[in-house]
Amino acid sequence: MSASISDILLDWYASHARSLPWRAPPGTPAPDPYRVWLSEVMLQQTTVQAVKPYFAAFIERWPTVAALAAASDEDVMAAWAGLGYYSRARNLVACARAVAEMGGFPDMESELRALPGVGDYTAAAVAAIAFGRRAVVVDANVERVVARLFALGDPLPGVRKAIREKADTITPAERAGDFAQAMMDLGATICTPRDPKCLLCPLRDMCAARASGDPARFPVKPPK
Ligand code: ADE
Ligand code: SF4
Repeated sequence: MSASISDILLDWYASHARSLPWRAPPGTPAPDPYRVWLSEVMLQQTTVQAVKPYFAAFIERWPTVAALAAASDEDVMAAWAGLGYYSRARNLVACARAVAEMGGFPDMESELRALPGVGDYTAAAVAAIAFGRRAVVVDANVERVVARLFALGDPLPGVRKAIREKADTITPAERAGDFAQAMMDLGATICTPRDPKCLLCPLRDMCAARASGDPARFPVKPPK
């Protein structure tokens, strides 16, 4: 049997994962759910580079979810200043308090989804990355890689349903968190929005967009 997309990508991730402060290195035990949740909330509308110093400052000042739950709203809002989207900071404190009350983060996607400020993406990311659950994690990078692998030619936003279905079919039963982060890294470093570096891509032999000759066309922009 030929190797699957997830097998190939997980192999690639073992040697090409970006080293990021909220990650456990590939193959090591899962990181603290608090760190995963905090980083995923910060990364929602903010780049990896911009998040790094904020993540470090939050972890130093509030090392646990209980510590963050005990912080004042004013202190958290002040520490958040510069990251933007201040509803995220308000939800952050509310979520920390709910989690502290529960005695820790729930480990299922459905329970995570019920927490303040935790949407489908964040619930799936925390369930997969921190708890090793199989969850389908789709952010903008993953969306682009999946649209290209399968040359999904319908325009955004309608194509999102097909993207999610395809992402589900390629998500492995084990290591869904590493798989999701490998997709993110591939999208950030190789399968970039313009000029994807297909010659360096571990998935080049199974990519329909590459075969089409114009991979950057996918995903197709919404009609004006
Ligand atoms: N963007 C959002 N979550 C991420 C993660 N866990 N790793 C890299 N980039 C991300
Ligand atoms: Fe993206 Fe090219 Fe890899 Fe396809 S072959 S996934 S378009 S980088």
